[in-house]
Amino acid sequence: MRVAVFSTKPYDRQFLSTANEGAGHDLWFLDMRLSVETAPLARGAEAVCAFVNDDLGKPVLEALDELGTRLVALRSAGFNNVDLEAARDLGIRVARVPAYSPHAVAEHTMALILALNRKIYRAYNRVREGNFALDGLLGFDLNGKTVGIVGTGRIGEVLAHILIGFGCRLLANDPLPNPACERLGVTFVEREEVFAQSDILSLHCPLTPETHHMIRAETLPLLKPGMMLVNTSRGAVIETRAVIRGLKEGIIGSLGLDVYEEEADLFFQDLSDRFIRDDVFARLLTFPNVLITGHQAFFTKEALANIAQTTIGNITAFGECGCADHEISVEKIVRAESS
Ligand code: NAI
Repeated sequence: MRVAVFSTKPYDRQFLSTANEGAGHDLWFLDMRLSVETAPLARGAEAVCAFVNDDLGKPVLEALDELGTRLVALRSAGFNNVDLEAARDLGIRVARVPAYSPHAVAEHTMALILALNRKIYRAYNRVREGNFALDGLLGFDLNGKTVGIVGTGRIGEVLAHILIGFGCRLLANDPLPNPACERLGVTFVEREEVFAQSDILSLHCPLTPETHHMIRAETLPLLKPGMMLVNTSRGAVIETRAVIRGLKEGIIGSLGLDVYEEEADLFFQDLSDRFIRDDVFARLLTFPNVLITGHQAFFTKEALANIAQTTIGNITAFGECGCADHEISVEKIVRAESS
């Protein structure tokens, strides 16, 4: 199969090329993000391989359809960037990588929680400058604290396992409570109760109309004052401007982010010799109690190898029988939501 692979970095090329050795697909690696402007680069490719910030809205899918694309192979678990209805209407199949390493994301979430709580990022800079003062570095014991997990799928479940090891009390909210989490001692309650009781709140749900701006101006008062908010799911699950207000008012005591609503124009690029045009993001960077990583939670060797293998597997299966292993469609989503 000829495959136009958008948004590729050297590490994507390396892992995808290795996974492709036995399969022999013709992979065209493209640095640029997929958009209406760049879609014509997929001319002649039966499959398009895309990542989290590629635009797979209706206009792009229509352009790809005209160019002959039959499969969109996502290198991600999340598919909020794809207009699945438009894909169905155009007869374009969409496949994803449902699970590549929940450990990678859960462990990164834990890293954010620990680094934020003990201010490791501040301590690192201070010690390098010969400043060994401890003022401003005060943390709290995780043992005995209440952690709320919104979304107890693959990642939320692994995080629950990790947090149990730290002696935390776990609350969770999920429309489909996870029995494995219940066996661990996680208590499932309404979202409002998770918000009210959590010293740390970690978000692990997909971005859907229901979860869009779950943390916003109206829900800020429901949070436990001084709580820690961590988001490694998708940026738009929180409304950034409201969260900035929450930080200024002390409702949010600290904030750890691996994702950001408007990350498409920032993340995965080296912008260190430019200024940041996004004033909201720039404001976030001014808080000493905010720690941001640039969508790197997935970024482990194991995860990249699994992403590459599953993606190549999806493309191979589609080439052989017209149906990829891990297809996602509007019908499947509707069925999952109503089950
Ligand atoms: P998953 O599909 O295994 O679990 C998602 C869980 O969220 C499910 O249990 C589902 O029932 C629940 N959920 C759905 N709607 C909800 C709602 N309204 N309220 C509460 N829970 C709800 O997905 P997985 O693999 O655990 O990934 C979770 C999210 O993490 C993904 O959707 C993706 O957006 C994000 N992610 C981020 C990465 C990163 O590098 N930062 C990497 C991989 C995934």
